[in-house]
Amino acid sequence: MTSQTYRQLHDRSLRQRDEFWLEAAASVHWEQAPQRALDDSAAPIYRWFPDGRLNLSYNCLDRHLEAGRGEQTALIYDSAVTEDSRSYTYAELTDEVARCAGMLAGLGVGAGDRVVIYLPMIPQAPIAMLACARLGAVHSVVFGGFAARELASRIDDAAPDVVLTASGGVEPSRRVEYLPTVAEALRLATHKVSSVVVQQRDGFSHSVQEVADDSQAQWHDWEQLTAQASPASPVTVSATDPLYILYTSGTTGRPKGVVRDQGGTAVALSWSMEAIYAVGPGQIMLTASDVGWVVGHSYIVYAPLLVGAATVLYEGKPVGTPDAGAFWRMVEQHRITALFTAPTALRAIRKTDPEAALAGDYDLSSLEHLFVAGERLDPATQRWIGDALQVPVIDNWWQTETGWPIAANPVGLDPLPVKEGSATLPMVGYDVSILGPAGEELRAGQEGNIALRLPMPPGTLPTLWGDDQRFIDSYLSAFPGFYATGDSGYLDEDGYLFVMGRTDDVINVSGHRLSAGAIEAVIASHPAVAECAVIGLADELKGQRASGFVVLKAGREDDAETLRAELTDLVRRMIGPVADFKSVSVVSALPKTRSGKILRKTMRQIADGEQPRIPSTIEDASVLDDLTPVLRPQR
Ligand code: COA
Ligand code: AMP
Repeated sequence: MTSQTYRQLHDRSLRQRDEFWLEAAASVHWEQAPQRALDDSAAPIYRWFPDGRLNLSYNCLDRHLEAGRGEQTALIYDSAVTEDSRSYTYAELTDEVARCAGMLAGLGVGAGDRVVIYLPMIPQAPIAMLACARLGAVHSVVFGGFAARELASRIDDAAPDVVLTASGGVEPSRRVEYLPTVAEALRLATHKVSSVVVQQRDGFSHSVQEVADDSQAQWHDWEQLTAQASPASPVTVSATDPLYILYTSGTTGRPKGVVRDQGGTAVALSWSMEAIYAVGPGQIMLTASDVGWVVGHSYIVYAPLLVGAATVLYEGKPVGTPDAGAFWRMVEQHRITALFTAPTALRAIRKTDPEAALAGDYDLSSLEHLFVAGERLDPATQRWIGDALQVPVIDNWWQTETGWPIAANPVGLDPLPVKEGSATLPMVGYDVSILGPAGEELRAGQEGNIALRLPMPPGTLPTLWGDDQRFIDSYLSAFPGFYATGDSGYLDEDGYLFVMGRTDDVINVSGHRLSAGAIEAVIASHPAVAECAVIGLADELKGQRASGFVVLKAGREDDAETLRAELTDLVRRMIGPVADFKSVSVVSALPKTRSGKILRKTMRQIADGEQPRIPSTIEDASVLDDLTPVLRPQR
């Protein structure tokens, strides 16, 4: 494919939308093949393949068995933190998933019911997700680095019957006990969960029996329950039914329940595997993320299995488990063709092994591409890792909301020239515009709001869980006719997209998305704090770090170090260690507009050494003079 052919393909996906996507839908097994692609009858809420019926677990598993590929590898569990590993063939994984689905069915879970999954990176996580898909139940995976209150708010919003969990997760420095967190979340939640199923792991101090006594829910042992369960068959559902809910941070403290549908997801992920990630049957992909994030949902679990590839589930870190050669060790050991990670992970490897000497210790000849997403890929890191591995480094830009890349390089069809700092070109079905503040289209080279003309392609969010109006207000109201991504960037003369950062108060720490508002709400609950602002400041390793600026109540003279310790502990307990919140400064005042809006962007610009844009509506400009010396040393 030349660049011209890319354009033809992209044009066709927009102009002959229905034909394009019905053709793409042929890669999926349907119980009832769709005759229609887009249903725009309830626009701006769009549905894809309204008359299609299918089962995703069948598409990820049974289909490959029926094609005679049951003995091929489907899942490789590789734990650097427990030194455990296990490989599952398609036949074995299908059996595990069918029994887990049978166990859930035995607890009363059926199509449309919700199941919350709070699991570390162990095989039970993808097994549980696929088991829900088998029953047509809706899973909601919660990342293990979130605290009880965050888990509780997701339980209240998703209203699950069952929570699936484990004794805990293993971080390099400690064991994270999950059971007290789950028990506390159940206490905090208003919604009552009927059953909790626990996968017991060695080396954890809390047991099911202990927590069960103090709870209204029935607690069960995973292995006992699955041993008694009979395997469940796939349940056919509508393409427009929800497959999962994944909560993500917005600007407020209330997470948004991004909904992913069944049919659109199957079609879009299958297309992306061939075209973007160049991974097909029998090939092996390592996506070094966590199943709690969208990258994990799409490219650890669903997409590799949809196309009959093998997926590596890695429990460990890029560095320190045991060293910065962890990824390269897995490439050699598992003969990985596609590696997908976040820029932060590469920067962490570079910091520990600047010459990439460890890459030289392994046979990396199987590796064809390195894919990166989750945050901006800085050109220095892109160059360094490309030189070290001698494979193309392919940036791709997307979000929890879209589920698969908005912009990427379709290397599986034919690679386009890479431009450093760019995620390359919009993928099929995405009509990308750069809009000014009033919604006007900006010219090539001008930075503005990145917006996607509606409708978006299959696989993107149809709505937010149970709240169409919030979906419309959050994403579709700023620029009528467009989905506002919340990112800022520009298109160059060749149509390459450069994504520069968020336009809102979402903070991206190590590729993890955090809400400034949520952290501020926790800080504001401290008795010494009169008001506060949290902003994401540039961080060499993690991309950004969340930094808090607090004004004390009149008369309070708290010791700065004690206050910092109290506030960081509070954020850790209320949001979770994932917030990685460590930096707090006490200031005498915060810069605000006359209407009381805190000028976070201006603060960020000062801290990052940029020329600050100071709005004419500022209440008291002298506040900035006092604040500048505090902000600048933050760099
Ligand atoms: N459960 C419980 N705690 C967790 C956790 C989990 N699943 N994941 C992270 N944490 C904790 C860590 O233990 C750490 O706690 P600490 O403050 O007690 O040390 C804290 O959350 C921050 O962890 P992390 O973000 O992993 O930072 P780090 O400094 O330990 O490691 C990196 C730095 C770069 C190695 C790490 O951030 C990383 O691997 N980043 C890649 C991220 C990624 O893949 N993102 C997915 C988006 S595609
Ligand atoms: P999440 O929903 O957690 O995947 O986070 C999505 C956000 O991460 C995007 O809106 C961007 O701000 C940022 N992001 C993800 N991938 C990239 C990328 N390739 N380049 C720049 N920013 C990115």
